[in-house]
Amino acid sequence: MYQYTEFDRQFVRARAAQHRDQLERNLAGTLSDDEFRPLRLQNGWYIQRYAPMLRVAVPYGELSSAQLRVLARIAREYDHPSKEVFDTAIGAQAAWGTTHLPVGYGHFTTRQNVQFNWIPLAKSADVMDLLATVNMHGIQTSGNCIRNITSDELAGVAPDEIADPRPWAEIMRQWSTLHPEFAFLPRKFKIAITGATADRAATHWHDVGLHLKKNEAGEPGFKVLVGGGMGRTPVIGTTIREFLPALQIMNYLEAVVRVYNRWGRRDNMYKARIKILVKAEGQRYIDEVEAEYQQILTVDGAPHTITQAELDRVAASFVPPALVESARAATKTVAVPPERQRDYDRWLQQNVAAHQNPKLRAVTLSFKRLGQAPGDADADQLDTAAALADEFSAGEVRVTHDQNLLLPWVNEADLPALWVAASHAGLARSNIRLLTDMIACPGGDFCALANARSIPIAEAITERYQDMDELHDLGEIDLHISGCINSCGHHHSGHIGILGVDKDGKEWYQVSLGGSDGSTLSGAAVPGKVVGPSFGAGEVPGVIEALLDTFRLNRTGRETFIDCVKRVGFDTFKAAANSARLADKHEELHALPKSSGYAKDAQEA
Ligand code: HEM
Ligand code: SF4
Repeated sequence: MYQYTEFDRQFVRARAAQHRDQLERNLAGTLSDDEFRPLRLQNGWYIQRYAPMLRVAVPYGELSSAQLRVLARIAREYDHPSKEVFDTAIGAQAAWGTTHLPVGYGHFTTRQNVQFNWIPLAKSADVMDLLATVNMHGIQTSGNCIRNITSDELAGVAPDEIADPRPWAEIMRQWSTLHPEFAFLPRKFKIAITGATADRAATHWHDVGLHLKKNEAGEPGFKVLVGGGMGRTPVIGTTIREFLPALQIMNYLEAVVRVYNRWGRRDNMYKARIKILVKAEGQRYIDEVEAEYQQILTVDGAPHTITQAELDRVAASFVPPALVESARAATKTVAVPPERQRDYDRWLQQNVAAHQNPKLRAVTLSFKRLGQAPGDADADQLDTAAALADEFSAGEVRVTHDQNLLLPWVNEADLPALWVAASHAGLARSNIRLLTDMIACPGGDFCALANARSIPIAEAITERYQDMDELHDLGEIDLHISGCINSCGHHHSGHIGILGVDKDGKEWYQVSLGGSDGSTLSGAAVPGKVVGPSFGAGEVPGVIEALLDTFRLNRTGRETFIDCVKRVGFDTFKAAANSARLADKHEELHALPKSSGYAKDAQEA
């Protein structure tokens, strides 16, 4: 993992101290709420539906066990609302017939970050200090700046990797942090980078997607995609450079972002993302980037060129950990009981990935199970993940785009022992990439912008599909759920997408079909198509069932769901979804309490 320099450490500590000073002045009444608001947002503190939400940056998804333990401590000691906040929230939940409100956990996001939903603002400075002890923070997790750079969860370990994207992602982290010119862009700006042939980082759906590749001479370079994004207008990124010499990437990105900064629609926040500029201007945008790039190279003297020495310095942090022969494997004390062999084999198939080092494997711990929202991990689970990382994976985990945790350095000989330990912790469910490994945003349970709740929908579908035989038989399916059109749950790219919509102040759900994140399984990135008018919450599991039954009926051999939809055609599935409408759904329609007081904060998220 990258080792922070003294500069980084001091910078993070100084930010925490600055936040404490601002908080104290706010609590003392000398810094008004309005004055404090932009300051706390710059450190990832948003007020949400009931309580502050903290977003912690996890650069390109890499976490050490020490960092995980601090996240566990924050979940355990700080992720608890005041009684007043709790009573308000549980009161709102009661209207939906819910009596239980989870507290004390962290939530992994599709952009490899971690969020907490209940920390009282008065305790925010203590939490920032704690985070700083392990070089963590919430800087640039909010606002119209360059956000956390995301990458392939298998970076540096994937057998299909052309080059390790992490040194580049780290250099971009340093470049984008406090970049003076790009602190107030027209809108937020998200970059994802992959160095593999398979795209596991949803690069086509980002403001900038970068593919590390090599030319015929074996020199490294980047394919550059610009203007991808979701929201109300889903757009797939446009390739504006097939091959950019890798050491020039910062000069080029300067041009990409500068032209956006100059022409992005600041007059209309719904049209302010770079995707709208690229869509509207097309070749004119590309030409202007090229002109700007040439100016940076020739007139400015290419000031952001990465030197080989700097690349080597950063890359030295990413050398694989020394391979330690497993003492446990040598003693063969852990064996898989024969009656569990089938479960183990399934886990090997779904949760264990091949590695660049033939003696190692990358193992995904599943955070998708009944009773907890997708991507949620309570304090004990975070501690357990840290212990598993220490014991089996050189103290390192990765946050995955699908909201799980991955152990990147597992000795093949240790797999049975890891499976036993992860099973005891409830983290060895063999559902990775299957239906219940769904993506979901926090939705109406927490988010001030939501039109509908996501979590109960995820829970209802998870409950319906508990049978592992059935799940494995259905095969790999991406189900993505967002509580509103902001698309945090990436519903556009789901093979099945579910979107919360508001009709007459009530919760409804639009279902779409055939979307793709651009990964090998799903084919080229494309937004799904809506199957028809929206459904009531109680209808949704039936709709999913109808879609999957249609798949079973039409499937040939081990064909995947998405391939079957493509072959058989959208209309057959659309008809099936609509046949699942209930005669009377009004009984179960719920109103979502409005909390517009904080919607402004949420817009910054
Ligand atoms: C309750 C907390 C959250 C709030 C208020 C929030 C708010 C927003 C908003 C307003 C946008 C749209 C911005 C724009 O298009 O200009 C957005 C986009 C996004 N959010 Fe969230 N979000 C929250 C939590 C999450 C979580 C938990 C995840 C991951 C599971 C997430 C992932 C994303 C992603 C990937 C996008 C970009 C979608 C795109 O390409 O346009 N967000 N969020
Ligand atoms: S998709 Fe909408 S409801 Fe879900 S977290 Fe994002 S803004 Fe909130």
